[in-house]
Amino acid sequence: MFQAVTKTLSVTSTSPVCRGILLGIRHYCKKTPTKLRVSEALSGADLGANVKVQGWVRSVRPQKANVFLHVNDGSSLQPLQVITGAELSDPSLTFGSAVEVTGILKKSPHKKQPVELEADQISVIGECNPVDFPFKIKERHGLEYIRQFPHLRCRTNAFSSLLRIRSEATTAIHSYFKENDFVQIHTPIITSNDCEGAGELFQVEPSGPDIVEDEYFFSVPTFLTVSGQLHLEVISGAFSRVYTFGPTFRAENSQSRRHLAEFYMVEAEISFTQSIEDLTKVMEDMFKSATEHVLAHCVEDVDLFHKHVTPGHRDTVDAMMKSSFPVITYTEAVDILNRSSEKFTFPTDWGCDLKTEHEKYLVKHCGNTPVFVTDYPYDLKPFYARDNQDHPERTAAAVDLLVPGVGELCGGSLREERLDLLSARLEEAGLEDIYSWYLDLRRFGSVPHGGFGLGFERYLQCILGVDNIKDVIPFPRFSHSCLL
Ligand code: 4AD
Ligand code: MG
Repeated sequence: MFQAVTKTLSVTSTSPVCRGILLGIRHYCKKTPTKLRVSEALSGADLGANVKVQGWVRSVRPQKANVFLHVNDGSSLQPLQVITGAELSDPSLTFGSAVEVTGILKKSPHKKQPVELEADQISVIGECNPVDFPFKIKERHGLEYIRQFPHLRCRTNAFSSLLRIRSEATTAIHSYFKENDFVQIHTPIITSNDCEGAGELFQVEPSGPDIVEDEYFFSVPTFLTVSGQLHLEVISGAFSRVYTFGPTFRAENSQSRRHLAEFYMVEAEISFTQSIEDLTKVMEDMFKSATEHVLAHCVEDVDLFHKHVTPGHRDTVDAMMKSSFPVITYTEAVDILNRSSEKFTFPTDWGCDLKTEHEKYLVKHCGNTPVFVTDYPYDLKPFYARDNQDHPERTAAAVDLLVPGVGELCGGSLREERLDLLSARLEEAGLEDIYSWYLDLRRFGSVPHGGFGLGFERYLQCILGVDNIKDVIPFPRFSHSCLL
């Protein structure tokens, strides 16, 4: 019944001869239709024009004399309503099928849409069997359900909204850095360093029949990057404001709702810093500027999330935008946790890492708003973090931004710019040879500097209220998952 052929349905006439004449007259009288995206058609600028729209059918409503279709092409959440005479209807015109429609754009009598397309020709370009198609016409499928179909979920309203928001948020972040005179640096994906020192690395080696065993392709073991920070630090020896925004990889065996094996990170590095506030200011400004942009440019898509997917989350977002993010030290954070009546699974002694449960508690304690935690125990932080020598406990000038629903969104620090301290720490870890180039940065024109990384997927979770990180990235990669 469903053949892979293109069917053209057009205004019919009783005899083939008359029909040919009819179409011929049409062609003679009308200009070639203007091809429009759905969003362009909806703008109302082409009322009265003969247009062609291509997209996928999101609903079909047959009525006595007419058939109403909703057609979408990813350019907006709102579909274009298409009206056809019943004679243009065809069994292959189903939910999910791909169509090409030509006709006249008219003002719509319905309040819900500004315009509608009165079709005189509909071609079914790709058929879609609605029985086998995993999404059903009138159902609002949950994120968890659509996650089972990573190759098809972009065809749902919720996931197409997510993809538009993700694209706009990317633009917003680049705009923030451009407006603030940061230079974008493409840091490498293949690297020999383990910036975070956590050993969560994916090794990179060629595969194939001509591979010589026990011989590295590069001269040293290489990995997919866990962070672009060290390369940004190289460039920050000549550029006082740089950033990078790209994929990063961690071989974490974590099935959590906030970890992926491949995720996008926004990282900034700033030279000539005075204190950790030079970093928290950029983190807070970037968060608010990007969020303001997304809220202003993706009104309908964000509303879909805040109304139907994560109801009530808009209030949290508005509160975040209004608040001035509080700053507490790690020591104060530990005090807060130890004074609370909450039973935590993980220990809260000074020197222990803050776990998600602790981070979420701290956020709630501070009024369900983003909060900066600074000055972590020195031993918890990687070799590059600057030693706070003047503190009573041994701490490093590091800062995390914790946010509602997610916990850690950003991690950053001032970097150890003092050659003697840095080389002593690297020596202690047996890393001084591997990082001799990094020590050079401190030998030649070293300046106080610092930076941070923001997990882009966690950012999207935070502003949309999405619980699972797998629902905010087009193709999630995580341990034990099958990949497309
Ligand atoms: O805190 P992290 O590990 O910091 C760094 O990598 C620094 N070198 C960044 C810098 O200073 N330039 O990672 C930064 C952020 C985290 O706060 C978190 O939001 C996100 O990256 N992140 C992850 N997101 C998804 N899946 C994972 N497995 C993540 N690991 C970290
Ligand atoms: Mg971190």
